Amino acid sequence: MRVLLTGARGMLGTDLSALIRERHELHPIDIEEVDITDGPATMALIEKIRPDAIIHTAAYTDVDGCESHVDQAFQVNGEGTRHVAEGAHRSGASMLYVSTDYVFDGKSASPYRVEDEPRPMSVYGKSKLRGEVYTRELAAQHYIVRTGWLYGEHGANFVEKVIGLARDRPRLEIVDDQVGSPTYSKDLAPALLRLVESGRFGTYHVTNDGSCSWFEFARHILDLAGIEDIEVVPTTSERLARPAPRPPYSVLDNSAWREVFGSGLRHWREAIEEYVRHRPR
Ligand SMILES: NC(=O)c1ccc[n+]([C@@H]2O[C@H](COP(=O)([O-])OP(=O)(O)OC[C@H]3O[C@@H](n4cnc5c(N)ncnc54)[C@H](OP(=O)(O)O)[C@@H]3O)[C@@H](O)[C@H]2O)c1
Repeated sequence: MRVLLTGARGMLGTDLSALIRERHELHPIDIEEVDITDGPATMALIEKIRPDAIIHTAAYTDVDGCESHVDQAFQVNGEGTRHVAEGAHRSGASMLYVSTDYVFDGKSASPYRVEDEPRPMSVYGKSKLRGEVYTRELAAQHYIVRTGWLYGEHGANFVEKVIGLARDRPRLEIVDDQVGSPTYSKDLAPALLRLVESGRFGTYHVTNDGSCSWFEFARHILDLAGIEDIEVVPTTSERLARPAPRPPYSVLDNSAWREVFGSGLRHWREAIEEYVRHRPR
């Protein structure tokens, strides 16, 4: 397959690039090749490459930054995705759009199913949902994959932030009232490629198995990294007062994926153990 990958130099995009290259003809693009907010340039590039499949990971991913850059968030995550979807439609390519658990408001008491009504709380969540709508409307052969709490070797992420802060400070306050599923981009990448190879179009939730709060996740990371001389204290979202509201509970039910592919991704504890063990010190 000829596969066009957007956001190819991002955290997930870098892991995907390496995988796709092993089996397919890869056309990696990022903002240096084309800014997806430029509709004519984006569509012209897609029509020139004439891909069989597009995996669209490019996004404005700074969740707090989106609150103060609302136009930019909707331009990149909404209109940018529209341009990619139109390009997919014109060139007859399938399209996979990577979306987020932050399209939900977090009021559920059980894991969100693909058919649950999205009600995003933040600008980031709203702009990513706009991207979902365009993908469904414009790209006839599409996959939408919602995931959450991503970390990986090739981008700034919570794991590195916690380990970095723990080296400088004697005490860390971490929120204990947001629950989700930490997901290793190295586990997500093969799942996305498998989906694109399958032709099983539709909407899926794909995360590592299990769930925890950010506080539990931080504690576990520090234990694995062998960092003991630090006090980690649970706090609340209200006390931390970050610009973007986050869902208190954004665990995703991965059963749509499991029904098609048999088994889901491994437990988050197993994945983070591998990540911490292999990260450069
Ligand atoms: N990270 C998470 O926790 C998380 C959770 C759920 C879903 N997701 C979704 O998963 C996908 C991958 O996330 P990630 O964390 O790997 O993202 P990332 O590391 O921020 O990568 C996104 C890439 O898109 C590029 N980009 C930004 N604006 C662009 C534009 N206007 N035109 C072209 N390229 C542009 C970025 O370039 P610059 O770096 O130069 O801006 C970057 O290389 C995203 O769609 C995100 O919404 C992420």
